Amino acid sequence: MKLLNTLFLSVSVAILDTLYKGRHFQRFWVLEEIARAPYFAFISVLHLRESLGLRGQVHIDLMKEHFAQTLNETEHLEEMERREGNKYWIDRFFARHLVLFYYWVNVIYYMVDPINAYDLSEKIEWHAADTYSKYLEIDPQDEKISAIMQDEIHHAQELSQAIRLIT
Ligand SMILES: [Fe+2]
Ligand SMILES: [Fe+2]
Repeated sequence: MKLLNTLFLSVSVAILDTLYKGRHFQRFWVLEEIARAPYFAFISVLHLRESLGLRGQVHIDLMKEHFAQTLNETEHLEEMERREGNKYWIDRFFARHLVLFYYWVNVIYYMVDPINAYDLSEKIEWHAADTYSKYLEIDPQDEKISAIMQDEIHHAQELSQAIRLIT
């Protein structure tokens, strides 16, 4: 599955590279719109498990972590909206349809194989950090993007820790 995750990420990145060449903030906005979906999905599945009485300390720690991540990703999204990343109808249309699909993919993936669902999201977070670091080569003074890049690194590390928690 880890190989499939890498393949899925490579194909998605190639598509985004083509569609968003030279359109940094539109690209970042689409990424941030999609980035929240796995965390919403993880929380949804954890809620379901809790409703079925499957609760424990690890469960509570994961709920806290994923809830914080959703809020943090929403802050990133709002920053990209301030930079007009969602200005064009076509980008909103693309991202909002994609995110619906991606949310349900993550719900099912996390239900049946949480370790690999986390692995996919960790890879995506590392990719997000890499995307922002490339932008910082063009504009090293952009402190907000630098802070967002650090957040993405933290998310990737937290997902790595989450894998260790449930393994
Ligand atoms: Fe983000
Ligand atoms: Fe992130």
